[in-house]
Amino acid sequence: MIVVVHGLCLGQHFNAYLHGGIVIKYGLAFVSAALFLCGVHAHAKEAVPGNTMGATTCGQSTCHSANIPWPNSAVAQNEFTQWQIKDPHSGSYKTLTSKKARRIARFTSQGDPTQSAKCLGCHAFQVPKIRQEQSYDITEGVTCEACHGPASGWLGVHTAGLYFYSKNVEKGMYPTTDPTARAKLCLSCHVGDGDKFVSHSMMAAGHPVLPFELGFYSWFTKSNPGDRAGYVHFKVDDDYLQRKPWPFGVKVWAIGQVAQAKAILELVTDPKNSPRGLFPELALFECQSCHQSAKGSGAYGPTLPKIKAANLLFSEFAAKIVDDRLAARLRSNIRSLRASPGISWGAVIGSSRRLKKTLGEIEIALESHNFTIDDNTETLARITKAYMRGRLHGYESSEQAVLAVGSLVDELDRLETLSVPLAAEAISATQRGLMAFKNQDVYSRTTVHSTMRDIAQIIAQHTAK
Ligand code: HEC
Ligand code: HEC
Ligand code: HEC
Ligand code: HEC
Repeated sequence: MIVVVHGLCLGQHFNAYLHGGIVIKYGLAFVSAALFLCGVHAHAKEAVPGNTMGATTCGQSTCHSANIPWPNSAVAQNEFTQWQIKDPHSGSYKTLTSKKARRIARFTSQGDPTQSAKCLGCHAFQVPKIRQEQSYDITEGVTCEACHGPASGWLGVHTAGLYFYSKNVEKGMYPTTDPTARAKLCLSCHVGDGDKFVSHSMMAAGHPVLPFELGFYSWFTKSNPGDRAGYVHFKVDDDYLQRKPWPFGVKVWAIGQVAQAKAILELVTDPKNSPRGLFPELALFECQSCHQSAKGSGAYGPTLPKIKAANLLFSEFAAKIVDDRLAARLRSNIRSLRASPGISWGAVIGSSRRLKKTLGEIEIALESHNFTIDDNTETLARITKAYMRGRLHGYESSEQAVLAVGSLVDELDRLETLSVPLAAEAISATQRGLMAFKNQDVYSRTTVHSTMRDIAQIIAQHTAK
């Protein structure tokens, strides 16, 4: 493992190479002296861990905002610039100043959305006053620290480069590398949790629905499937892989599905969302059990609404990778959840609790499983076959099917598993499928069908060889 530290203070350029903790090039004294001279680093008081420094602190030109990456650097160092230009998170506060945001806030009695704790919880990194350093600025949106953790505790060791990733994590850097931890982080905003939630009334006022799939969303944006480099602000090169495991693909997909299903059930069992009068919180149900379109136009007459189950169905494919018995139990748990809204809210809660328990066991099995590329191709074959047999046809399941294919094909391509012509065909089929969801009002079933059929054939050809 090689860690490289650099700085450019008082016009002086230095590189210190650490190998197994031994400084090879320059002396430690020089490194710390130079860091002391960088104003920002000197601010990194380790005495108050858990304080938020703000994105500009990470975006110093000597740090994550270098115009030209430092030679031999372990990371690209342009992360700040990438985030600012490409990552929708950097514009998430600005979104709250839009006309649409003001409309949503007005209809849900939130007042000014840029002042509403409810909106800011997901559209910015909201931290209590005593946790804010002077450089903290809420208008920066979903910042580096919103994902990597408040920096005051680890900025010192981090910029000194004297420790490795695990040491940063020990000092409070959030372990984004770990799929379970990453899922928890992203889902807190992309599904919601006890504190943050997009309700049906917010959606009725115009807030978009929140589709998510951990693997795919970690790479690039759904809105821009053609750009496979997407918003991603880190580079997975040989150096990355020496330090960290492959951060996408079948493992992240599988753990992400189970975590997402669990996060939705957490909301279902949260007493805050239990029915008031006759009506439970409608955002927890499949939109299309009451609406013709996923956006909410064309409400049907009275039907038995279904609790959102797309991630549960896909968790069954995840479970199949590790344990057929758990997969079968999950399937029977899902059936009882499906029937429960017709019985009582108590029955919904009961089946949700049983499901959460099963999902917990699947999660543990997935975490310790040693994933192989066959797990990827076998899962792709199972999903596409199930789709062709008509099992996954609802809007949300079709969307998850396409996102799963997006994640899994991406991994096969990047690890150069498929032959060149098969990879090209698979990528093009995947992109076609993703485009079928460009418009949430109507999605093209025929396009999704052709994507699934093509991928099934490509995988069959690949495994026949
Ligand atoms: C603090 C809340 C928060 C966290 C944590 C968070 N996000 Fe987001 N994310 C948002 C918001 C808000 C938006 C919408 C930004 C906008 O357009 O205003 C968004 C947008 C996105 C988009 C673009 C979606 C599209 O349709 O183009 C992707 C991709 C994404 N997030 C991935 C992730 C991933 C992956 C993680 C975890 C590593 C994550 N997010 C963590 C709040 C969050
Ligand atoms: C649980 C987290 C969460 C909460 C709470 C939340 N949002 Fe969002 N919001 C998101 C995410 C995630 C997206 C991006 C969805 C996507 O495209 O995948 C988003 C998207 C939006 C968009 C659309 C942006 C665009 O580019 O079209 C607007 C407008 C918006 N939110 C306004 C608000 C307002 C106003 C509030 C408060 C009343 C609010 N949001 C509360 C998570 C949240
Ligand atoms: C929406 C969440 C999110 C935001 C915002 C975010 N990151 Fe990341 N970052 C991740 C994830 C996920 C990874 C990949 C997993 C990993 O390597 O830990 C990552 C990886 C990285 C890496 C690791 C590269 C490597 O080679 O090890 C660096 C450096 C980094 N981010 C810096 C930043 C900086 C600087 C900012 C702000 C300008 C930022 N990130 C904003 C989620 C985020
Ligand atoms: C149990 C049935 C039910 C479910 C499930 C449901 N809705 Fe609704 N929705 C309604 C009804 C009834 C209305 C009209 C009354 C109102 O505005 O609350 C409505 C109104 C809306 C509107 C406003 C439509 C307009 O023309 O003004 C939108 C948008 C919407 N829903 C989106 C969604 C989304 C997105 C989901 C899934 C997360 C969803 N709904 C789930 C019953 C439902």
